[in-house]
Amino acid sequence: MIERKTMGRASPILLILLAIGFSFATYNLLTTIIHYRSAGKLVDDYSGGIFLSDPIVEMPKNVRRPKNSKSLFHVALTATDAPYSKWQCRIMYYWYKKRKHMPGSEMGGFTRILHSGKPDNLMDEIPTVIVDPLPAGLDRFGLGIIITESSNHTFLRGKGYIVLNRPWAFVQWLEKATIEEDYVLMAEPDHIFVNPLPNLAHGEFPAAFPFFYITPAQHGKIIRKFYPEEYGPVTNVDPIGNSPVIIKTVLLEKIAPTWMNISLRMKDDPETDKAFGWVLEMYAYAVASALHGVQHILRKDFMLQPPWDLDTANKFIIHYTYGCDYNLKGELTYGKFGEWRFDKRSYLRGPPPKNLSLPPPGVPESVVTLVKMVNEATANIPNWETQ
Ligand SMILES: *[C@@H]1O[C@H](CO)[C@@H](O)[C@H](O)[C@H]1NC(C)=O
Ligand SMILES: *[C@@H]1O[C@H](CO)[C@@H](O)[C@H](O)[C@H]1NC(C)=O
Repeated sequence: MIERKTMGRASPILLILLAIGFSFATYNLLTTIIHYRSAGKLVDDYSGGIFLSDPIVEMPKNVRRPKNSKSLFHVALTATDAPYSKWQCRIMYYWYKKRKHMPGSEMGGFTRILHSGKPDNLMDEIPTVIVDPLPAGLDRFGLGIIITESSNHTFLRGKGYIVLNRPWAFVQWLEKATIEEDYVLMAEPDHIFVNPLPNLAHGEFPAAFPFFYITPAQHGKIIRKFYPEEYGPVTNVDPIGNSPVIIKTVLLEKIAPTWMNISLRMKDDPETDKAFGWVLEMYAYAVASALHGVQHILRKDFMLQPPWDLDTANKFIIHYTYGCDYNLKGELTYGKFGEWRFDKRSYLRGPPPKNLSLPPPGVPESVVTLVKMVNEATANIPNWETQ
């Protein structure tokens, strides 16, 4: 349920005052939130875009689980009904099913959170929950402020922004779904489970992949607008996005509404919007979780990103967001079309054909494995070419 009210007639100054008032209200609320951080600093300081040491952290003994008790996580995949999203989801789900029952996996159920507001033709193939997209076309209200409501939360929002559908999708899903697992993995359509994924989280400590381009410490001034000093140093904000993250379901239920709000406030702040651009909602998740006192275990082995990461051994998810371009000698020609290439953006309008050609000799194992896994999925998914 979404309810929209525009306050088109109120003066801009009144609206700004209102916004400031609301912000204070948010922070007063947040100060009463229980802080989960108790085991001190989990990660080495991140400074200047360089990890000073390996960020994979030894966990305090008391949060380690006994070896043979499984701790399942639910796989939650946010997606749209665009052909580009659909073929990636089908491959993603294929590999989930294959890896789920393998030794070492702690994968539980699977949900595609479809934030297009209506069913598509994959409803029978992939377990799906439909949620609403953000109301579209909000830009035309100019400075007007719109209240978006879910059953439990009210959000102040400004300009429409398509990527912000993600936090909004999670807020709605968490409200309407009954999730059996104690943990949730937030996943993306261009993720492929290359190895069975264990639950990398430990108790109250979620696990996340550190992105080199998320650098809160280098954006101290901006982060401070949303992460006030009394919460602690800017380095409490982890260099992560919301995905991939494995987190306790109850923690995500607390963080998601804040994530939504911070995303909207960041989007409404021109300086922040300009600085963060397309990674704005990643920063918003990092800040929102820090506001709740949640710190993530940073796992570089959570994910690998061809063509930069060369092998898949002991890693869990292939993220195929970068184009892979090689000449026939097997040399990377990144940024220039290769004589051999695999790039998901070549298939914006529909699925890649079956049986893509394998890369020439000399291309890293990660890229070869990626193409083989895509080929295996497309060979086995019924009616691959129909969309
Ligand atoms: C979001 O922020 C607005 C204004 O800052 C506030 O009124 C609202 O309660 C907040 N909602 C949540 C879920 O934090
Ligand atoms: C896939 O393509 C290769 C050539 O690139 C061909 O040799 C092979 O027979 C094809 N396999 C299938 C199952 O079509």
